[in-house]
Amino acid sequence: MENIKPIPVILEGDPGHDDAIAWVLANSTDRLKILGVCTSAGNQTIEKTTYNAQRILTLIGYKGPLAKGRTRPLIEEPMNAPSVHGESGLDGPVLPEPEIEPVEEDSVVLMARLIEESEEPVTLVPTGPLTNIAALLTERPDLKPKIARISLMGGGLASGNWTPAAEFNILVDPEAADVVFRSGVPILMAGLDVTEKALIFPEDFERIRAVGNPVAKVVAEWLEFFYHFHRDIGYTGAPVHDPCAVAALLHPEIMTMKDVHVDIELTGKYCRGMTVADMYGSTDKKPNVRAILNIDRKAFADLLVEAVKAYDEK
Ligand code: BDR
Ligand code: CA
Repeated sequence: MENIKPIPVILEGDPGHDDAIAWVLANSTDRLKILGVCTSAGNQTIEKTTYNAQRILTLIGYKGPLAKGRTRPLIEEPMNAPSVHGESGLDGPVLPEPEIEPVEEDSVVLMARLIEESEEPVTLVPTGPLTNIAALLTERPDLKPKIARISLMGGGLASGNWTPAAEFNILVDPEAADVVFRSGVPILMAGLDVTEKALIFPEDFERIRAVGNPVAKVVAEWLEFFYHFHRDIGYTGAPVHDPCAVAALLHPEIMTMKDVHVDIELTGKYCRGMTVADMYGSTDKKPNVRAILNIDRKAFADLLVEAVKAYDEK
């Protein structure tokens, strides 16, 4: 069998149901080598997302470093999403009490150290607001050549979800997104264009529940929680956003992608936080983003089922 080298990654997010499932997926496979996990403020405060991260990582048996991110966006006032993820930021099933503590270093310092120490260029996988990634790129621009790419969940070429124009992760910290999108580091963008097609239905989370191990049972309940919230606001299924940023590294063949130039709108009256995409080359700006446009939904659901099955052996 071909011996494929694992991709070194740093996971960074604001868990959050879909961030949690992204981490379950990433930790399920030897194809990724998770160097560290970092939190961001977003779905809830940094205290809550970090506590959630501690419990998620305990559930999935992750033993590497966890670091806490910064408390607030670069200049914007903090904004959270309790309507989506609950007051805890991860309402739903009972999770184990933490057996893992965050390290002393803040997440920017940890990411810098892990990138410096890595023999291979590192892929960053942010699934929350981009505050800490922007801080890393601003404070340590010397490390850019050692970042293979940033596979992120954020934005939407066609529309927003938190305002008509802006997606939540970008809207929380547009200035940070602007730094990241102008950084010159290759960006793989799982925006709403694809994530709202990555729909999970009851038959999918029942397949996951039937796998029966403790991780599968919790993932099924997270998905059920997410499904009910979205169904109540008019979706046909749960758009499981954040795992798309991990799936893009593991199975790009189940997705379609297009290279485009994307700017972040910082001043618009209606459009602050919009990811403005030059889809048809109407400017002379070179593509700075590989945007994911579509996904084989069934293959995505199968991937989540296979991911939780891997915890039978862990
Ligand atoms: C994004 O916002 C958050 O609520 C989710 O975790 C996801 O990262 C989708 O807009
Ligand atoms: Ca998220």
